[in-house]
Amino acid sequence: MEKLRIQGPTRLQGTVRASGAKNAALPILAACLLTDEPVSLRRLPAVQDIRTMVRLLAHLGLESSPIDDGLRICGSVLEAATIDDEAPYELVKTMRASALVLGPLLARRGHARVSLPGGCAIGVRPIDQHLAGLAALGADVRLQHGYVEATAKSLQGARFRFTMPTVGGTENVMMAACLAKGTTVLENCAREPEIVDLAVLLNAMGARVEGAGEATLVIEGVESLGGCEHKVIADRIETGTYLIAGAMTGGDVTVEGSHAADLAPLLEKLDENGATVEGRDDSIRVRCQGELRPRGIVTEPHPGFPTDLQAQYTALMTQANGLATVAETVFENRFQHVPELVRMGADIQIEGTHALVHGATPLSGATVMATDLRASACLVLAGLVAEGETIVDRIYHLDRGYETMESKLQSLGARVERIHSS
Ligand code: UD1
Repeated sequence: MEKLRIQGPTRLQGTVRASGAKNAALPILAACLLTDEPVSLRRLPAVQDIRTMVRLLAHLGLESSPIDDGLRICGSVLEAATIDDEAPYELVKTMRASALVLGPLLARRGHARVSLPGGCAIGVRPIDQHLAGLAALGADVRLQHGYVEATAKSLQGARFRFTMPTVGGTENVMMAACLAKGTTVLENCAREPEIVDLAVLLNAMGARVEGAGEATLVIEGVESLGGCEHKVIADRIETGTYLIAGAMTGGDVTVEGSHAADLAPLLEKLDENGATVEGRDDSIRVRCQGELRPRGIVTEPHPGFPTDLQAQYTALMTQANGLATVAETVFENRFQHVPELVRMGADIQIEGTHALVHGATPLSGATVMATDLRASACLVLAGLVAEGETIVDRIYHLDRGYETMESKLQSLGARVERIHSS
């Protein structure tokens, strides 16, 4: 079992480069199922979730070969008879985003059988909206033996309204609609930058998607899609994690390659917390000296404060002077990092969907258990300011979404290393 050992406290200083966005790269890889022509993807992050998706694509008949900073994905290499339309439980259980192959498989091959997803234990996380959207396009969708089985001779453009803005649901239905006959109008869509990046890729493949980044998407179906080249956007959640680490340690951290506008809700908060924030189109710098001011957050779909930065921000607030309320509205079970922070000396009470963080409390190093991807990052941040040694266990969660986190932190001056022990 691999762990991270962190010796604190440290003040972080320096520059790191943002990796490609995992949450943009996952649907983009799934979109490669929509064509037989090669798609060259650059700035793909070398993280476990991406390797899982590439394995899933291989299972579905797509080959990948390395190119500079990414992969070339190609679907035409296998005979049709040998191609599988099933995403099996063994692959899907570790990653909810595997469900993203459903829409493309259905649209391209008329059939898909996908295991109901697993992923982070942060809530129930159904995919009912993905399925309702595909059914609206004419698919016959059944749930059997833990699998979704969807079939359609051809998909037909339709008007569909999501009951909540779901990121994966918007992506799945949007990909399917690209090959449907006629016009699809999707309402109450998620507006995350990753959805915009997917639309840019789809349009480069020959699709006609309008409105990405807004609540209503209009998609004119086309006969077929072709290959293209695409560079994935920078990971705003990874970027935000390093910027919070900079503020939390009273440091000076610059993340290069990241776009400040995509992180506006966090940057505004950091500014209110008393940090000096310089946001540009291609880099963001955060400096912090002196006392951190407490400020509450409410997580919301984009352009609200991202739920994927809630745990890291909670860690930051343990170092601010006073009470900060952290409200989680996107997922129902996303405070699993709190008991671990409390074990390190934080003073936090959970009241329903709110965490009340009373700072500033000195933290002391401890052995703590990562429970999901972003909770792991939160514990690493806590370890950076804690006195003494912190061991973060179960970092396979961290490896799902952070590329070489320990070397990036080392380059900022952190004393952190990966250890192997039973
Ligand atoms: C994506 C991100 C994840 C992030 C989340 C919210 C990827 C690969 N993952 O996850 O990191 O935390 O957005 O920003 O991009 N819901 C339903 N029914 C559905 C779909 C969703 O009830 O059919 C609910 C979920 O349980 C959750 C909320 O809607 O409470 C938001 O989920 P969603 O936006 O779909 O998240 P994901 O796409 O799974």
